[in-house]
Amino acid sequence: MKEKKENNILELFKPYVPEAVTSRILEGKGSLPSERSEVTIIFIDIRGFTKLADQLDPEKATEIINNIFAPIVGIIDNHGGSINKFLGDGLMAVFGTPFSHEDDPERAARASIEITKSIEENGKIKIGNKVKSLKARIGINTGLCISGEIGSSIRKEFTVIGDTVNLSSRLQANAIPGKILIGEKTFQRIKDNFTISFPRKLKVKGKKDLVTVYTLKAEKKKISFLEQKKNSHSLFMGRQKELLVLKEALNKSYQSKGQAIEISGELGIGKSRLILELTKESLAKEFNILSGNCSSWEESKPYAPLKEIFTKIFGIKFDVNLKKIERKIENKIRKIDPSLLFASSYFSRLLSSKIKSLEEIMEQSKEESNLFTGLLKKLLFSFSSQKPLIIIIEDVQWIDDASAEFLIQCSKELKTYPVMFICSFREPLKKKLYIAGAKRIILSPLKNAETDKLIKYLIKENDIYKLMKDKIITTANGNPLFIEEIIRGIEEKKLSADKDKPGNYAEIFENFQIPDTVQSIARARIDLLPVGLKEILYQGSVLGRDIEIKLLQKITNLEVKTLLEMMKELQKHEFIEEGKTAPEPQRHFTFTHTLIQEIAYNSLLFKTRRSLHTKIGAAMEEMYLSKIDAKVEELAYHFKNSDDKEKAVFYLNKAGDKAQSLYAFKNAINYYRDSIKILELTELEKKQLTQLSEIYNKLAFSQSIIGERKEAEINLNKSLKYCKKNGDKDNESLVLMGMGNLYGDIGKWDKAIEYFKNSLLISEEINNLRRKARIIKSIGLAYLLRGDTEKGYKYLKDSLKICEEIKAEVLLAMVLNNMGIYYDMVGEWKKAIEAYKKSLSISKKYNNVIEMSNIMGNIGIVYSTLNNSNSAISNYKKSIILSERIGDIYNQGINFVHLGEEYLKKDKFNEVKYYISNAEKIFKELEDKLGLADVYKLKGILSKKLKNWEESDNYFKKSIKIYSQQGDRLNEGETYYELGDMLILKRDTDLAKKNLIKSQKILRHIGTKKYLGEIEEKLNKLKK
Ligand SMILES: Nc1ncnc2c1ncn2[C@@H]1O[C@H](COP(=O)(O)OP(=O)(O)O)[C@@H](O)[C@H]1O
Ligand SMILES: [Mg+2]
Repeated sequence: MKEKKENNILELFKPYVPEAVTSRILEGKGSLPSERSEVTIIFIDIRGFTKLADQLDPEKATEIINNIFAPIVGIIDNHGGSINKFLGDGLMAVFGTPFSHEDDPERAARASIEITKSIEENGKIKIGNKVKSLKARIGINTGLCISGEIGSSIRKEFTVIGDTVNLSSRLQANAIPGKILIGEKTFQRIKDNFTISFPRKLKVKGKKDLVTVYTLKAEKKKISFLEQKKNSHSLFMGRQKELLVLKEALNKSYQSKGQAIEISGELGIGKSRLILELTKESLAKEFNILSGNCSSWEESKPYAPLKEIFTKIFGIKFDVNLKKIERKIENKIRKIDPSLLFASSYFSRLLSSKIKSLEEIMEQSKEESNLFTGLLKKLLFSFSSQKPLIIIIEDVQWIDDASAEFLIQCSKELKTYPVMFICSFREPLKKKLYIAGAKRIILSPLKNAETDKLIKYLIKENDIYKLMKDKIITTANGNPLFIEEIIRGIEEKKLSADKDKPGNYAEIFENFQIPDTVQSIARARIDLLPVGLKEILYQGSVLGRDIEIKLLQKITNLEVKTLLEMMKELQKHEFIEEGKTAPEPQRHFTFTHTLIQEIAYNSLLFKTRRSLHTKIGAAMEEMYLSKIDAKVEELAYHFKNSDDKEKAVFYLNKAGDKAQSLYAFKNAINYYRDSIKILELTELEKKQLTQLSEIYNKLAFSQSIIGERKEAEINLNKSLKYCKKNGDKDNESLVLMGMGNLYGDIGKWDKAIEYFKNSLLISEEINNLRRKARIIKSIGLAYLLRGDTEKGYKYLKDSLKICEEIKAEVLLAMVLNNMGIYYDMVGEWKKAIEAYKKSLSISKKYNNVIEMSNIMGNIGIVYSTLNNSNSAISNYKKSIILSERIGDIYNQGINFVHLGEEYLKKDKFNEVKYYISNAEKIFKELEDKLGLADVYKLKGILSKKLKNWEESDNYFKKSIKIYSQQGDRLNEGETYYELGDMLILKRDTDLAKKNLIKSQKILRHIGTKKYLGEIEEKLNKLKK
């Protein structure tokens, strides 16, 4: 019975098993010598597989075999092993005989890991409405075996026998489903390059002693993408000056004087290569090298290069599930900087693909988006304290907005960390990327002598070199990529010539025309490819940088085996290379240079391109069905360039939502605009109207956050128009709320209140309590800030009631914070503190550090007003500690100023000086003018107290100048008062009067009562 089934499976396998193996198994043809050698054996067992296959109809069973067994066979073949035997539910594979490689154990390990993954991915089988997940148990063992053919002349089999085989099978039997168990010898041979569990002793059938076994986990990842290329490159010419600049910067970075470098120059001039050469320096070995790439098809994708970098920091591969990602990230953060553990959810958000709804997004504050980038920055810098960092971002001309902003932020604080930033780009740089203090390296063409040397090195035949060198020098114009392309062309010409008339090159190369741009020569090389191959290269170019084999297979409908053969051929011509270190789980190739991808892509007819994009989009939808949110940016890109407009709108919109969820508002704006553009060209029926109104609303939200308020207002009005047309109440109330927020942001409280009230009416109509609470709170705050304190208070109380009723705690914390502001305004200090503290305890519960640090600052201010200096100081300090934790150095600066003010009251001048200088350092770093003005003002007051009149005068004037430039009238007025006061002490009566009057005028004009009493009093005294 069992026998029969095995043969049956074997038959089904036939198409997938390498010819040599099947023939060996089935016919035992040919004769191989019996030999004794070290081999590595894998046993794989997929539990219950045959039983399952039995329950299904034959068609379904075949499909399962296709999806599960076929990849296994392919994987083993790819890694150079062979299938030896099929067993009931599994198989035995052998590495090391009859063909051996020096790294057979590693190959076996790698193959096993891939197989586990492949089964995890493809082994979900639906029976009725239950899903069964198949899992493999794998055992690997290495050791001496005897191999060869045994059997009669009628039925021979290639066999491997020995204790090693038996133990390997036992290991498999003892493995947990989904896991790989390996023996001691295998462990010894692979331990350097794989992560493996601690050893464990196991009782094994047929063995007297316990055996030592290990669980194989993963292949260690090489952190640098450059690693793989390192050894395969040609001679490096020139660039000594540039390397020197880089080395110097590397040195400085090593001493914690962070450096930023920009390398620019045309395509192929050698930007990437120069960076590669730097990483070969011995000092570079002391650094962690992290790199990310930007590409033309990821220009809108939020944090595209940073995701690559953080994925490497966290040691994550894209295919693991979310729970695992979260755990891994947490563990890693614990090692890098435990004080960031509270925020690990933010980090997993960067790498996961959670998409929030608009309402959830509207609840996030502007501060939260600062927090997000602050955290990323903090982690990066903390990581550098383990080992210095080189961070490489290539092809920045295509950087997405969120990444660009992040880089700009980081570069401002770089100077005190052991970090070296390197950006490379082609001119022109569309995006504004001002990296603070970056050194600029502009790569110019190689000199003729250098070009000559390179040519000589690259062309092996002296005859051809002599014939061609002058032509190459004049055409290539010192561009190394151009030189390489020309020589590849020559090489191919030579090969075809060799077939006809070997050795007679003069004739052929005398009239050899070199096209005059690097593009045309590469195109000519592509044109020489046989039709089928060219087609594959073109189709691959639509996929982008990574040519994922599985995807390419789907759009070409070729068999994997055929496809891989073609890829190998393209590899031979140096158009593509196999990708090893990218975090994609699937086997993939990459273009040797973006040039090739660009040319191939541009050669496609628009119509063909569009249809390929459609095909790819559809194939991706199918392949990534369960994790589609992870791929929305890619899907948006493909469908945007396809004929399927409906899907384009759908995915662009989703990509926008995802960007907003990651606080990447500029990226979101791009996605929404693209989707609107497409939508407005289609016929607007009900569904499209709903979409349009939603997208306009979301677009406006993003715009208002980044300060594009005019555009936001226009788009909110459009959104309003569409939802009214559609009678969509839910959305209408959201839009009206957005309008209210927008006017609130610019201090137009009356208008804000009007919109909030309209929104409130509708949310009452649709009975959305949560939204109601939120809007009422907004109305309350608007009244407060307009000066209608009592009305404001009434609304806040109402909101409070609803929040408590529906247990909306996060919102409740905000309401309480606003209540605190109210009590502070009306002088009920105790109640203010009480409200703040309640709010604080909720924020603590939700680990909302921004709110916490905010509230503590507020509490400090109240205590300061109450002249409870010690409590004020302690709260300011707590706020600073929290801001430090989240990398919010701006808030630290503000609180340093407060501390300075507090200590000044106590005449503790040393403390004052200390805090002032801390604040000054921060605001200088951030180039924050108003912060600096606060610092100067405080310095002025300090000098006044120390009776340094001239210094004091200087600082006051410096700060007044900034306040007036920045339009901060309140502070301007206050500083004139301080200046006047100093002049009285200095007994410069006339000038004192003049400045006090200026102060009075300004403060009166903006309608504050602050200081007016004091000024009056002082002016009266002066008159006497
Ligand atoms: N100074 C050099 N000497 C020799 N080969 C070089 C040099 N600079 C670049 N190359 C080679 O030229 C090709 C293109 O260089 P690359 O660094 O990829 O260009 P870019 O990044 O500027 O587009 C690569 O194959 C690279 O190895
Ligand atoms: Mg490059």
